[in-house]
Amino acid sequence: MAPIFSLVIVIIFLISTAVVSAATGPDYGFTVELIHRDSPKSPMYNPLENHYHRVADTLRRSISHNTGLVTNTVEAPIYNNRGEYLMKLSVGTPPFPIIAVADTGSDIIWTQCEPCTNCYQQDLPMFNPSKSTTYRKVSCSSPVCSFTGEDNSCSFKPDCTYSISYGDNSHSQGDFAVDTLTMGSTSGRVVAFPRTAIGCGHDNAGSFDANVSGIVGLGLGPASLIKQMGSAVGGKFSYCLTPIGNDDGGSNKLNFGSNANVSGSGAVSTPIYISDKFKSFYSLKLKAVSVGRNNTFYSTANSILGGKANIIIDSGTTLTLLPVDLYHNFAKAISNSINLQRTDDPNQFLEYCFETTTDDYKVPFIAMHFEGANLRLQRENVLIRVSDNVICLAFAGAQDNDISIYGNIAQINFLVGYDVTNMSLSFKPMNCVAM
Ligand SMILES: *[C@@H]1O[C@H](CO)[C@@H](O)[C@H](O)[C@H]1NC(C)=O
Ligand SMILES: *[C@@H]1O[C@H](CO)[C@@H](O)[C@H](O)[C@H]1NC(C)=O
Ligand SMILES: *[C@@H]1O[C@H](CO)[C@@H](O)[C@H](O)[C@H]1NC(C)=O
Ligand SMILES: *[C@@H]1O[C@H](CO)[C@@H](O)[C@H](O)[C@H]1NC(C)=O
Repeated sequence: MAPIFSLVIVIIFLISTAVVSAATGPDYGFTVELIHRDSPKSPMYNPLENHYHRVADTLRRSISHNTGLVTNTVEAPIYNNRGEYLMKLSVGTPPFPIIAVADTGSDIIWTQCEPCTNCYQQDLPMFNPSKSTTYRKVSCSSPVCSFTGEDNSCSFKPDCTYSISYGDNSHSQGDFAVDTLTMGSTSGRVVAFPRTAIGCGHDNAGSFDANVSGIVGLGLGPASLIKQMGSAVGGKFSYCLTPIGNDDGGSNKLNFGSNANVSGSGAVSTPIYISDKFKSFYSLKLKAVSVGRNNTFYSTANSILGGKANIIIDSGTTLTLLPVDLYHNFAKAISNSINLQRTDDPNQFLEYCFETTTDDYKVPFIAMHFEGANLRLQRENVLIRVSDNVICLAFAGAQDNDISIYGNIAQINFLVGYDVTNMSLSFKPMNCVAM
């Protein structure tokens, strides 16, 4: 059995590549870059697109997945456009670089693997496990194999396999294995996690981009990167997202361990719940929303998450989806208090849009009331400019069978901290561009 429950972090200096020290525990922290897919640092960046094209693309990806119900045990929400934030990491020995989507809505860390029988087109070189000296298949009887949540019945095969399908019917299947993951931290050090359980995908299809080689799951299930790092980083990660379409949006950071502490003035926290049905998701309780100091709307809808929770937080979903009644109350109140003419969304994605050519309009006081955490939202969390003369509310309604999602526009300019040990989520208002 691999000692996967207490991964040891090995710090390697880039130049010598020698292992110089090992550290674990709550004092240890590191930071990697979190790259928005439309930023100049992304392999998907298209310099010919303008700001509004990028915004429209983001919304289109978000909305085109809005086509069905979340069923049984799918690991990612239907609205999650997953591809929004990317991270660079390496797999194996010697380290083989990959670019993967960082996804807080799913668990498994996987990359396309040679030989690839049924893979989506990948422009980047593909990981070949036979060339990694540290790659080991996991046996079906290993406790690590249970991370997959699959029935890996040993009577059929000796080795562990995984299969994950996402809300939009994309999927990945292959061998479940352990290998070293390495990440370059922003301090210049390289941080290595030996014996991390990863999926070596031999059958992957769906809405995956040719410039991305896999997914890094940051969800709540045992296979996710944060759960596997566990006590080595105190179960903590955080990020600070810059405004959408921001051309220097490459400055987003993903912090781990003590670098992910969210504390001090303005920091608030709310409990994280585990939904019985959707165990990967960070489920929260949103009690109410306010528009203006006197106008508070309470959330009364039953959620399919079950228990106390009624919304999940996800970095890969663009819009915020509120239970449909709450959404209409919220949107109408904003519409009534914003002194602008209603108009149609030129792209026909969003419902509540207003005419203005300047950003010099008055936005009412808007707040989200999570259990124990009141968040005041700013203009950039609520309204998104979709053309030179139109802004739209970056919110939509979730029907009864859909999951409500606190999306990434609402998280802009907050330091958002996930603590899977204390099971709490923290927010602190912050200028993320300046970080
Ligand atoms: C992938 O990146 C290359 C440049 O590295 C670019 O030419 C190509 O269009 C990109 N493909 C997609 C699907 O974005
Ligand atoms: C972060 O929190 C941990 C545990 O509470 C503490 O040991 C560590 O010193 C803190 N780090 C920073 C940078 O505040
Ligand atoms: C643990 O979570 C609660 C919210 O559920 C929060 O109030 C408290 O500050 C957290 N403790 C630590 C040490 O982060
Ligand atoms: C809010 O309510 C208070 C007291 O009822 C009232 O004085 C105030 O004018 C109201 N504010 C708004 C913006 O309606």
